[in-house]
Amino acid sequence: MPFWGTSKTITNGLRRNRLVLPLSIRGMELPHRIAVSPMCQYSSQDGFATDWHMVHLGSRAVGGAALVIVEASAVLPEGRITPGDMGFWKDGHIAKHRQIVDFAHSQGARIGIQLAHAGRKASMDVPWNPERALQPAQGGGRMSWRPARFASGRITRSRRHWMQRESDM
Ligand SMILES: Cc1cc2nc3c(=O)[nH]c(=O)nc-3n(C[C@H](O)[C@H](O)[C@H](O)COP(=O)(O)O)c2cc1C
Repeated sequence: MPFWGTSKTITNGLRRNRLVLPLSIRGMELPHRIAVSPMCQYSSQDGFATDWHMVHLGSRAVGGAALVIVEASAVLPEGRITPGDMGFWKDGHIAKHRQIVDFAHSQGARIGIQLAHAGRKASMDVPWNPERALQPAQGGGRMSWRPARFASGRITRSRRHWMQRESDM
């Protein structure tokens, strides 16, 4: 018998594995527990989802994930970790998400989104560039790209990130 077992022992193993058992979350029924974590792609412009995201998320749905979570999506432009982050601060952002969600559903997957604000860690450059806090003009010249205004802790100074101001939300 090969060290990985026969198909019968593998099937028995899978039956015992909770990963393949259904899961109910607040009335949402998942046929198994394989889910895709949110993963920033740094591939948005002005917060918009693109064909990249359709392929990235859609292919996980095709692959059989029961649940796919869309990457951290900033609720404000200045809440993005980098200018490449996905966003959800204007109605125009909805259309591409509609397409992605409809496609994921057509493949039997459930899909969610991680709404986010990067706080003090916002306004950095994309990870493949040297680490630096971006000036407003370095975000592609968009007026909407401003230093972070919100932060969760009481740290007032950081060598790498923008200084924080407490949230006025
Ligand atoms: C490329 C990449 C991007 C990620 N982006 C996010 C993100 O947007 N939001 C988040 O909460 N975690 C993010 N993570 C962390 C993952 O969601 C996940 O928690 C991490 O990879 C650990 O996975 P594990 O708990 O299954 O081992 C990212 C991870 C990777 C590798």
